Amino acid sequence: MTSRRLIALLALAGALAGSTTGAQDRPCDAQPTALAPSRDLYCIELIAAPGIRNASGRVELGRIPGPFTIAVAADGRLLHQPVITLAGLPPPASLGAFTTYVAWVATPVMHPVTKLGEVRNGRNVLATIALEKFIILITAEESPGVDEPRGKVVLRGQSPATRLQPPDVLQFAFGAGPLESDTAHAADAHAAHMAQAPPRGADVSWTTVPMPPGLQMLPAEMALRPGVEPYLPSAREGQDVHAARPRELVPLNDGDTLRLDARLVRRTFKGRSYTMYGFNGQYPGPLIRVPQHAEIVVQFTNRLDQPTTVHWHGVRLENRFDGVPDLTQEPVQPGGSFTYRVRFPDAGIYWYHPHVREDIQQDLGLYGNLLVRSPRADWFGAANREEVLMLDDLLVGDDGLVPFGREAATHAFMGRFGNVFLVNGEPGYRLSIRRGEVVRFLLTNASNTRAFNLSFGGARMKVVASDVGNYEREEWIESVVIAPAERYVVHVRFDEPGEIALLNRVYGLDHFLGRFFAESDTLGIVRVSSEPASPDHASAFRALRRDSAAVAGIARFREHFDRPVDKSLVLTLRAHDLPFVTERLMQLDSIYFAPVEWSGTMPMMNWASTARQVTWVLRDPATGKENMDIDWRFRAGDVVKLRISNERKTFHAMQHPIHIHGQRFLVLSVNGVPNENLVWKDTVLLPAGAMADILVEMSNPGRWMLHCHIAEHLSADMMLAFTVE
Ligand code: C2O
Ligand code: CU
Repeated sequence: MTSRRLIALLALAGALAGSTTGAQDRPCDAQPTALAPSRDLYCIELIAAPGIRNASGRVELGRIPGPFTIAVAADGRLLHQPVITLAGLPPPASLGAFTTYVAWVATPVMHPVTKLGEVRNGRNVLATIALEKFIILITAEESPGVDEPRGKVVLRGQSPATRLQPPDVLQFAFGAGPLESDTAHAADAHAAHMAQAPPRGADVSWTTVPMPPGLQMLPAEMALRPGVEPYLPSAREGQDVHAARPRELVPLNDGDTLRLDARLVRRTFKGRSYTMYGFNGQYPGPLIRVPQHAEIVVQFTNRLDQPTTVHWHGVRLENRFDGVPDLTQEPVQPGGSFTYRVRFPDAGIYWYHPHVREDIQQDLGLYGNLLVRSPRADWFGAANREEVLMLDDLLVGDDGLVPFGREAATHAFMGRFGNVFLVNGEPGYRLSIRRGEVVRFLLTNASNTRAFNLSFGGARMKVVASDVGNYEREEWIESVVIAPAERYVVHVRFDEPGEIALLNRVYGLDHFLGRFFAESDTLGIVRVSSEPASPDHASAFRALRRDSAAVAGIARFREHFDRPVDKSLVLTLRAHDLPFVTERLMQLDSIYFAPVEWSGTMPMMNWASTARQVTWVLRDPATGKENMDIDWRFRAGDVVKLRISNERKTFHAMQHPIHIHGQRFLVLSVNGVPNENLVWKDTVLLPAGAMADILVEMSNPGRWMLHCHIAEHLSADMMLAFTVE
């Protein structure tokens, strides 16, 4: 039997057994199929110490429920809820002068050691762990009050990340040999994609990509180049390219018309000038503000040298205006136009961007926000001001922008991480406010691949809303985890005068040395004066609001929460024709995958991999069909439970922000841990090896896409279409 059929059978068996969210969906208990959370990344098998017979145990690195699919501290450390299940522990007194068992967590060098709590046979839910590499010990102790392990070790285990070791020199020697020159032998098989490729540009050549500071690369990696032609936009002879202007606020009402175009612009960062793209010559594109339930007309003209479209991300609009080339419309050719009618049934923050070669067009600046105002005056809690921020990162080398792949996207493995952080298109965001102000930030991640972990120093922050509306309840958060295409609305109160940095703090993985390292980047500064805010919203800010309309709206769907899974998807990868050094190093690397790759720490191999060598796959385990061969059909009004599992046992597992067009969904659970505070979403971040159950309301008829929002993964086929009749 093929493994695909085996998987299909197992899925069927699961469905027959009534596979609602339950114990079997937790990482330590799950069946070892592709459609389950990864045991390897989220479960530690404890090993009995010598002389201890029959005792056994497992530690689930449980997901901490919260507004994000992954729990991270403000400083970037991953947080886990250890759930320790023990069996066969003898009475402690049988091992010596002991009365109880205690669980501990320690770094691999056994210092410091932190007490997790007393444990016994059965299930023990213990204190949060905030370490990447760690050891768990279960010891027999004289009393539960001990503050360091003194008794006898009975069980022990190591976290998955401890498998990362500095490489054996011999292993790496395989990667140090001369370069096999097979990057260039890409076939012309991808003719279909070529229709949307930009024309040949003027003299662009491949340079190398910038190295993140402190990372080492092998010589053979340094010699890698993408097997496609380099592309950067350039002006035609005699064409004037104007300096881009900061975005303008465009308030529109029902029935209004906006003219929008995509064109070349000149952008200047840190004294250097670049040819990029802009909507209406602005960066980002115009901020379009509309009342909820309005319908506007957008007369779009393509002034680029390549086809494009405009997609209205998250908006449940009429299908023929969704902007997906070859699915809802013909791509708009250079010089051509298209008229979109966009209606806004849901309040909140949305965005628009092209749906053709996002890896180039969106990255070069084609994105803008849509702010849809609710008629309800109390839609949001009180704030002194509102800041609409689009977050992005741009990849700039010594010689300017690193070129894009013309016939196919580069950076097909991890996506194109940038090294210049942009807020509303500019490095170094600045905001001046008064002490005690509550600021409402409406955040959109417009980057190709980067997930951010954002915080404002120690300023108190609560999350209020996400993609398609408000949370049932506001919630305090330490930081905002925002994946490409996601939106979050947060309220932040700045109590202290001074300069507060907007920071992205994460842990990168140094693959060469097998270690994690802290990264901190400043996206902007909030200058807080000592003058007090007026009005002062302190007391309103202190309370966490409950949105009874959101609660009631979601309550209508609760009867579906425990239904069996209707459809499932496995996220995986196929790679072919890779250079030997890439093949070899990535295989070594597959010993461990971080749940989220926060930064591009394999820059050369990643850059040189193109969408001709890498195919990202959405697979329906029920039929074995993949990507555009999947042809799901639903009826308007259906409520569909979709299980998405991000396969760990693949050449390169990483997180995927999965986006569904034209509909909205609830994230019910991640790794079997249910969410308690729900919000309507259009994009969900699936960490590596994780499994999520989402409930999709099929409310909007048409032919729609589901895809990964990492631009390079989309270019590498990670999409499917479904029909709502
Ligand atoms: Cu914002 Cu199909 O995507
Ligand atoms: Cu992806």
